[in-house]
Amino acid sequence: MRVPLHLLRQLKTIAWLWGTLSLLAPLASAQPPALVCCMAYTTINENTFFIQGGLLITGPGISSSNTSQFYSLDLTQPTWNTLNPPWKPLTYPATLVPLASTSGHSMSVAQDNSGFTMWMASNLVATYNIGSNSWGQIVPTPPATLFKGSNLQAATDPTSGLVYLPGAAGTPNSMSVFSSSTGMSLSVPMPPTLVAAGAFYSFVWSKVRKTFIYYGGNAATPNPFFEFSPSAGKWTSMPIAGSVIPPFQMRSCMVSAYNGTKILLFGGNTDTTQSVDTLYILDVPTMIWTQVDNSLDARSDMACSVSGDNFIVWGGYKRFPGNPFLPASATPLLHTWIQSSSACNHWNRKAQSITHRKGRLE
Ligand SMILES: *[C@@H]1O[C@H](CO)[C@@H](O)[C@H](O)[C@H]1NC(C)=O
Ligand SMILES: *[C@@H]1O[C@H](CO)[C@@H](O)[C@H](O)[C@H]1NC(C)=O
Repeated sequence: MRVPLHLLRQLKTIAWLWGTLSLLAPLASAQPPALVCCMAYTTINENTFFIQGGLLITGPGISSSNTSQFYSLDLTQPTWNTLNPPWKPLTYPATLVPLASTSGHSMSVAQDNSGFTMWMASNLVATYNIGSNSWGQIVPTPPATLFKGSNLQAATDPTSGLVYLPGAAGTPNSMSVFSSSTGMSLSVPMPPTLVAAGAFYSFVWSKVRKTFIYYGGNAATPNPFFEFSPSAGKWTSMPIAGSVIPPFQMRSCMVSAYNGTKILLFGGNTDTTQSVDTLYILDVPTMIWTQVDNSLDARSDMACSVSGDNFIVWGGYKRFPGNPFLPASATPLLHTWIQSSSACNHWNRKAQSITHRKGRLE
């Protein structure tokens, strides 16, 4: 007999409640999103976390069904509980629903932070505007020779508005670039001697270095981080100071925090090793990595977000090579990664009110 997912979730919740009664907040949320991996996700202004689509995880192993679910999570609410996050289901035009039932796709933030662009397999590129809660479609769709949507990560250079998509032309060392005025074209290729792989990597803009940081591209080098400077039009190995170098993984998540002065890297696996629960933080001004926590919950292909001092992980699975993948807990992981007196009020306000949610959630 199969236990329905919602029942499992309730059981987990009840089991976990014993340890967390003191943390309960009275907020109720709508029906939460179904557990998925390989969804598209992004965070806008550290205010709203969006997740879309993904492969449903209904038990050991990943199902072959994609979902078109689309949810936001309000990160500005002063208190919410990880057992009952304020998820908000969002809708889109009926014409988009069949196309938006997809996985392995990605989102890039609009240059003015008004929303995001969603880069899907099947070449479809859709834009979402938060203010008007409306979708549009980029036409013409980029040619398949320049854009294959699966298992790549698009990211925006906020200084130019251009979106970069490593590996998008299908060949491992290609990189495509999208301009809203001229469409998709090829960008500077990734040097094959430097970056070997073209999928399941992490790719984020560094506001401080004015470069993109790329992780998960080359298992053979001791330093698995690479950097692309759009202004120099050049790929290089990313410098690392200090003795900690996060080892190569794929299917991790990497997000920027603290006005770009920190970069957080969590989870992932390799083809021969299981999912990890390690969280590393890069201090960007000094380029020193620190391993912060070993007691999160191992997973891969999850969605991650940051708001102030809080790092949020949702969805994904645990991978054990040779065995069925195990679903990750449907409860978001929340890790308060630093207690700081940073000058940024916007983040501190939230940090102070929700730091109590720190903890291991399994
Ligand atoms: C899910 O979406 C991906 C990407 O579009 C596609 O390759 C895959 O075939 C889809 N799976 C199903 C069952 O439709
Ligand atoms: C964020 O960083 C930029 C430079 O990267 C700086 O000009 C700005 O003042 C910083 N903002 C805050 C709130 O620290």
